[in-house]
Amino acid sequence: MKNYMKLELAAIGENESFARSAVAAFALCLNPSLAELSDIKTAVSEAVTNAVVHAYGKESREHSLWIECRADGDEDGGVLHITVTDGGCGIEDVERALLPFYTTLENDERSGMGFTIMQTFMDGFSLESERGKGTKVTMLRYIGREKIPNEKNQDAVKERTDA
Ligand SMILES: Nc1ncnc2c1ncn2[C@@H]1O[C@H](COP(=O)(O)OP(=O)(O)O)[C@@H](O)[C@H]1O
Ligand SMILES: [Mg+2]
Repeated sequence: MKNYMKLELAAIGENESFARSAVAAFALCLNPSLAELSDIKTAVSEAVTNAVVHAYGKESREHSLWIECRADGDEDGGVLHITVTDGGCGIEDVERALLPFYTTLENDERSGMGFTIMQTFMDGFSLESERGKGTKVTMLRYIGREKIPNEKNQDAVKERTDA
């Protein structure tokens, strides 16, 4: 099964909880565990918060952010792809932004751990950003496969062990 969804939201804090619940609801087609859902929600929350807080400065209300999800799999699990995109200011130094505890909003009591959390809670992560154009975070999460002993999964696990 392939499934997808696309959302455009106002880049406001009120939409952060909506966004993570919407992605979690979409992910249900892959039958995730509660722990998997919780990881996904945490990562989406961080990505959306970044678009709200950093991308557009004080005019955030006037702007949009976009979330796209794709699911490849079935009720035994599969892969969930998520992108969170904004059309904001972009990131000056991407490498630096990825460092734990690095934040440009220290006075705002930001932890600087957003990107670290996304990378820790997801199985794949990439960040593309262009000054003055915007930022796109891509994340991937495997759902279920690891824990469910079906034939395909056994083969995949075996391949990894043999490698
Ligand atoms: N969508 C974005 N647009 C512009 N800058 C961003 C965006 N996301 C992150 N950044 C920059 O990367 C830094 C690190 O992000 P993060 O790890 O989430 O920490 P925090 O949000 O706590 O500052 C931010 O302080 C900000 O400068
Ligand atoms: Mg952040």
